[in-house]
Amino acid sequence: MIHATAAAKDSQAAEPLFEPYQLGPLHLSNRIVMAPMTRSRALDGNVPNPLAEIYYRQRASAGLIITEASQVSPQGVGYIRTPGIHSPEQIAAWRRITAAVAREGGKIFLQLWHVGRISHPDFHDGALPVAPSAIAPEGEVFTAQGPKKMVTPRALDASELPGIVEQFRTGAENAKAAGFDGVELHGANGYLLDQFTRDGSNHRTDDYGGSIENRVRFPLDVTKAVIDVWGNERVGYRVSPTGAYNSMTDSDPRATFSYLTQRLSDLGIGYLHVTEPVSAENRVTPHLRPLFKGTFIVNGGYDAASGNAAIAKGEADLVAYGVPFIANPDLPYRFGRKASLAATDPATFYTGEDKGYTDYPALRA
Ligand SMILES: Cc1cc2nc3c(=O)[nH]c(=O)nc-3n(C[C@H](O)[C@H](O)[C@H](O)COP(=O)(O)O)c2cc1C
Repeated sequence: MIHATAAAKDSQAAEPLFEPYQLGPLHLSNRIVMAPMTRSRALDGNVPNPLAEIYYRQRASAGLIITEASQVSPQGVGYIRTPGIHSPEQIAAWRRITAAVAREGGKIFLQLWHVGRISHPDFHDGALPVAPSAIAPEGEVFTAQGPKKMVTPRALDASELPGIVEQFRTGAENAKAAGFDGVELHGANGYLLDQFTRDGSNHRTDDYGGSIENRVRFPLDVTKAVIDVWGNERVGYRVSPTGAYNSMTDSDPRATFSYLTQRLSDLGIGYLHVTEPVSAENRVTPHLRPLFKGTFIVNGGYDAASGNAAIAKGEADLVAYGVPFIANPDLPYRFGRKASLAATDPATFYTGEDKGYTDYPALRA
């Protein structure tokens, strides 16, 4: 028994996922990151549910938790029951969550979100959602009145952009007041920052469209504002260079995201978080790694073996896990013991209150 325990400890120690990591000023106990995941359980006023305190505390053994995407303003809302970071009630609820994670020795970043065109007039008193260009995404959004087809958004006037930069700045300040360790900008999956970045959704002819330099101008303005609040090391940025979700396309993802990566590297942000399926062909992720001087996080279908391999080969510093963390709150423990993983029930991804949320047991329970 004693030998087996020692052997298990040795094999765990030898695995890169279990090496501690210094993320700027933050000491992470391992390299396993919990990926941001919308769980649609917020209360009226987009206030985080008290259940979220249990949910995130249960998962605090991750080296770093990145929260579900959280709106920086009412204009940034596009889904029911998603939390925000723009009202005193939201800040107070988040403060209880960050305190619970800190008590467990965990670290937690808030993902700052503005959905842009992935919304519906139902969320905005009948006004159109805003976007870089008046191009409708395919598909439906779920509003309080049920599923509705997405509409053609209103193209933002350039004069409105500084106001949205301020929404992000305020969100970043509020995240600080709520006790987070840092913030991640949601630049992925077809939301506002991504809509500006990729040329399928940005047909502007002013300083914010056309060339790659112009298309990333607004995302970089937002990043600079958030750095003003947090300092560069506690700011992360997430991208999905080849993701098609939310009707996204780009004529040259490698060029677009290489340029953005270089500029984010110049700004000295703490990490770049790239989500792209590990099994995909022609991945852009490997091309971005050498262009970024900070911490590099990969995500997309990784398991323990592929995560360890990615770090061992120098392809990543940290590996983020999404779906596996839903049903396995103690995912690092299970990875360390080579335990089998519980299956996640997609039916409770976005509904069910505690069911499929806080009722997945830890192995040791
Ligand atoms: C239920 C659910 C909600 C998600 N919500 C977000 C989100 O709020 N922000 C985000 O950047 N990605 C979101 N994602 C994507 C995940 O962060 C992750 O990129 C994806 O699940 C792939 O990683 P995995 O294979 O480890 O699950 C979500 C994924 C799922 C399954």
